[in-house]
Amino acid sequence: MDIVEGLPQGKALDLNQSGPVVGYEAHVTGTNGYEETAGSDIVVITSGSPRKPGMSRDDLLEINKSIVSDVSQQVKDRSPDAIVIVVTNPLDAMCHAAFDTTQFPRQRVIGMAGVLDSARFRTFLAWELGVSVRDVTGFVLGGHGDTMVPVVSYTNVAGIPIRQKIDDNRLEEIVQRTRDGGAEVGTLLQKGSAFYAPSAGVREMVDSIVLDQKRVLPCAALCQGEYGVDDLFVGVPVKLGSGGIEEIVEIDLDDDEKEQLQKSAGAVKELVEAMAKL
Ligand code: 2OP
Repeated sequence: MDIVEGLPQGKALDLNQSGPVVGYEAHVTGTNGYEETAGSDIVVITSGSPRKPGMSRDDLLEINKSIVSDVSQQVKDRSPDAIVIVVTNPLDAMCHAAFDTTQFPRQRVIGMAGVLDSARFRTFLAWELGVSVRDVTGFVLGGHGDTMVPVVSYTNVAGIPIRQKIDDNRLEEIVQRTRDGGAEVGTLLQKGSAFYAPSAGVREMVDSIVLDQKRVLPCAALCQGEYGVDDLFVGVPVKLGSGGIEEIVEIDLDDDEKEQLQKSAGAVKELVEAMAKL
């Protein structure tokens, strides 16, 4: 669904026509209204204005709050049992907007960011070491903003702790490039923002829910005491299955990472408070 006439219909037609080659027969419908979305099991909200070069994700707060709130109301009215995956920026604040509007249980409102940020982190680490990305495990927690927390202590290459392979200074550069990952793509594109990696992240989450895979993935979830965070959406490892968020998985972080996560949660809190005044 998109408000631009013709755009979703054209995309749907194009996608349907890739079916014979790629090998699927699902029928994709594009629409400018919400009627066709009624009774959805999963809704992915990407609506909103993207960043322009030089903008931070937070600069989108005002415009995207009203868009995401409107869309969420339509979702609540037509698909009251849906699991909602929010992608719009600023991600963590937009999760709050969707949660407040739908009043769905916290298991059914989830933000996509950690899978994307972790994919960026893993890509850069694999390039650094000249190894397959498949062998690099690592994840990024916290808010999807400048304070996100790539968790170095759990990052490994085929089980080997990353600190045995890359020195601290170089690791810090890679962590920073990960934090700036969305802006780096946006600056190159000049118009629009990253597309393929975010959609791959959404697909991994949707698969885990639809196929009840129970993957443990970093996602924005409403923490209510977990990780010492109260009533805020921040990126944490969650188990995703047919019920949505089936568990927030708590892991021990080192002192520095704990502090970074609190700082990141603090940044989300400030945004949510600013949003409440809009
Ligand atoms: C990104 O990180 C747009 O926030 C999105 O690419």
